[in-house]
Amino acid sequence: MITVTRIGKHIGAEISGVDLTQPLSDDTFAEIAKAFFDNEVVFFRNQKITPAQQVAFTKRFGILEQHVRKESRLPGFPEILVVSNLVDHYGNAIGAQDAGRFWHSDLSYKKEPSLLSALYAVEVPVKDGKVLGDTNFTSTTAAYDALPEAMKQRLQGLKNVHSYRYYRNKNALAQKEDAARGGRVVQEHALTEEQLKSVPDVEAPIVRTHPVTKRKGLFINEAHTSAIVGLPQAEGDVLRNEICQHIIKPEFQYRHSWQAGDLLLWDNCAALHKANFDYDLPQRRLMYRTTVRGSVAV
Ligand code: SIN
Repeated sequence: MITVTRIGKHIGAEISGVDLTQPLSDDTFAEIAKAFFDNEVVFFRNQKITPAQQVAFTKRFGILEQHVRKESRLPGFPEILVVSNLVDHYGNAIGAQDAGRFWHSDLSYKKEPSLLSALYAVEVPVKDGKVLGDTNFTSTTAAYDALPEAMKQRLQGLKNVHSYRYYRNKNALAQKEDAARGGRVVQEHALTEEQLKSVPDVEAPIVRTHPVTKRKGLFINEAHTSAIVGLPQAEGDVLRNEICQHIIKPEFQYRHSWQAGDLLLWDNCAALHKANFDYDLPQRRLMYRTTVRGSVAV
């Protein structure tokens, strides 16, 4: 019997009474899946899982993706994306150092954007007794519900372009600006043209119906949305920015303070997330991410 404790007003719950190193019955898994879809973000504390156990657990939700950033996959586990600020003996990044700089949902730029992601905290940065590197989540379904009726009408039927290329350019610019200010310097593997071509731009509805809960949510984000279909660029940018600002209002958010051993799942059809880069070496952060394929957004 699992216990689900709601944390945020609209999003976020802790699930206790589960040891993910042990086989889960279909009934227990169904309870977890229900809690997940009801709460959009759920987490389990104090899990001592191996990469193979993380893969096996998340596979129960569907097919696992292998990220286009293949240099950041965990050796031996191509379904695991390493998200970390650590470097190897030669000073090379062992994973993605800048994942989550902007609000986004994972793989929203794919034809079949991700259903859910799972992030396992192996090491969490701590400075002077304070845990750093929190992740913020925000509910796009609560944000949709709170929109004025006129805006709901305006958005109905509108599509936006989700572009990985757009994200890479925006991210590269932000990295340069950070470095120029004397901030964090990020190691980034350049992607080949072939890698970029494997993730072409896609159009998706701004108002999206969740494939499982059937709730409406806002499927648009500042990282990947490069344009609004049918609107001039400047007008589309204004609309995108207005909706994105609305989605991240504090009342829709849950902020997760990590503990080593947390496994946290978020619903990419109902939530956006953003990392906080308030730590740097010697504070170490090592996370493993698995991502489940979803269905075409409608
Ligand atoms: C991500 O965006 O997938 C990573 C979030 C984080 O590291 O907090």
